[in-house]
Amino acid sequence: MFHRGEHKFVISVLPVEIHTQRLVLRQPSVSDAEPIFNGYAQDAQVTHFLMWRPNQSLAETVQFISQCIESWSSGQCRPYAISETRDATIPIGMIEARRTAHGLDLGYVLRRSLWGRGLMAEAIRALSDAALSDPSIYRVQAFCDIENAASARALEKAGFLREAQMARYAVLPNIGPDPRTCYLYAKCK
Ligand SMILES: CC(C)(COP(=O)(O)OP(=O)(O)OC[C@H]1O[C@@H](n2cnc3c(N)ncnc32)[C@H](O)[C@@H]1OP(=O)(O)O)[C@@H](O)C(=O)NCCC(=O)NCCS
Repeated sequence: MFHRGEHKFVISVLPVEIHTQRLVLRQPSVSDAEPIFNGYAQDAQVTHFLMWRPNQSLAETVQFISQCIESWSSGQCRPYAISETRDATIPIGMIEARRTAHGLDLGYVLRRSLWGRGLMAEAIRALSDAALSDPSIYRVQAFCDIENAASARALEKAGFLREAQMARYAVLPNIGPDPRTCYLYAKCK
């Protein structure tokens, strides 16, 4: 049974590092800012369906990474840097887990040059399975715009089920000011 406020914290239910066949999901570090800025944070195609605008300067990405590091300390959410196993120092994307009442909500991004190789499905599967192995986690969910076919497919490949279409659910600032219709996906136990 959750007590008031307890569900805000992810720190106790997720491993600090998650290893898959090709990837390492790990704590972000200040040195990740530059490769993230150069790799995808300025890329308008990458941010098209995201809630944030392309970064205009390295300072913006440095600020973002500082917030990520702070989130790990406070335990309120856990943004993992994703690296390939063969060079764990270079971040190629991120996957963030936020606590919900009985589970987690996920968000994720990958640099464009690595799209379509099954990498994010691999990351989503590993993180969701690790989470669901904790007794307090019953449900891992994610939303995506109904036009974001790559995200929907990555979730399906990771074992998520499409549960609903949520009309006018989220504003995606890179597309426009009107709330957009999204799919709700979840994996449960
Ligand atoms: C969404 C994203 C993380 C997917 O990462 P990825 O590693 O390329 O995903 P995967 O390779 O595991 O799976 C993508 C699947 O979608 C398919 N796909 C890609 N574009 C597609 C399209 N336009 N229409 C239909 N399917 C598409 C791929 O072919 C692949 O399926 P397959 O393996 O059956 O062929 C990546 O595209 C990304 O970073 N996008 C920008 C950020 C974003 O939208 N994040 C999610 C917000 S909800």
